[in-house]
Amino acid sequence: MLLRKSGSLESTLRSSDITPQQLFEQHQTNRRRFLAGAATLGAAALAARYIPGVIHPETTVHAADQLTVVPSKYNLGDPQTPLAKASSYNNFYEFGTDKPDPAHNAGKLKTSPWPIQITGMVKKPRTINIDDIIHYRPIESRVYRLRCVEAWSMVIPWDGYSLSEFINFCEPLPSAKYIQFFSVVDKKAMELPFGYDWPYKEGLRMDEAMNPLTLLTFGCYGQTLPNQNGAPVRIIVPWKYGFKSAKSIVRFHFTDKQPVTTWNQTDGMEYGFYSNVNPNYDNARWSQAHERRIDSSAFPRSIPTLMFNGYSDQVASMYAGMDLKKFY
Ligand code: MTE
Repeated sequence: MLLRKSGSLESTLRSSDITPQQLFEQHQTNRRRFLAGAATLGAAALAARYIPGVIHPETTVHAADQLTVVPSKYNLGDPQTPLAKASSYNNFYEFGTDKPDPAHNAGKLKTSPWPIQITGMVKKPRTINIDDIIHYRPIESRVYRLRCVEAWSMVIPWDGYSLSEFINFCEPLPSAKYIQFFSVVDKKAMELPFGYDWPYKEGLRMDEAMNPLTLLTFGCYGQTLPNQNGAPVRIIVPWKYGFKSAKSIVRFHFTDKQPVTTWNQTDGMEYGFYSNVNPNYDNARWSQAHERRIDSSAFPRSIPTLMFNGYSDQVASMYAGMDLKKFY
């Protein structure tokens, strides 16, 4: 979405089979075993087929921990995007604006320790650590579609739990109407291209953030997130364009005002606050009627884009009575 270059599940358990304490212990065991993920995934990446102009064949997938995940009801039947593709064709502008850049550069980001600030309209502003929340609720594997405003899409098994659980943990005041996400800024590890007001910022209305679909995401494909996909924690909002899904979050801010977001700030005409996937409303640069689905096939297929990315049943009621062309 470049504007200006100026600048194996280890175990598959039902949630009823496992307690948070077991989850914690299993995770610790997994950590100690620490698989040579880099080597395994690197080989998988090299095996990925080259798609001219779409997938760069050289990629670096950094070492990942296995996660203990439980199945969920969110399990699309669509063919999945292989990990090698999902982790080599990325938007993470802090690490460069070309699709292969994050895979090459994001390994420099240190994701542990990872303090997280909870600020604004909450009972008690505080700083916690990623470990305080990664085991807070069972981690579900949810297969979601993610649709980028650049008119490509992927189908990925994301691992996390509903953001609503975390929001309850934060104890927002009744006056909080929005949540804002701040991504990390690490000047040593990042390129931070000129022309953007870093840190990357995104936000949601509180009802959107509380919608059970909105996922606080710690992993994908049963492993901790590759850095290029937003380690150690990101958001996935599957009915909105991908840029709403902020990566590598270090601060959750609760406010009564619609928060500033990076893309809206950069070009408010093209990137609205809501940015719900909408095939009836084109972006200035990309038609939103169709998308190129990146899955295991050698060449992406063009398929019609669905309203709310196919999640209308779960989300449309939140926008009843709103003019979606005005509130794009
Ligand atoms: N988060 C940060 N911090 N920086 C970014 O550049 N890009 C967004 C979003 N989150 C971005 C970000 C965009 S445009 C998309 S499409 C998705 O991340 C891509 O997520 P993926 O690379 O895991 O597919």
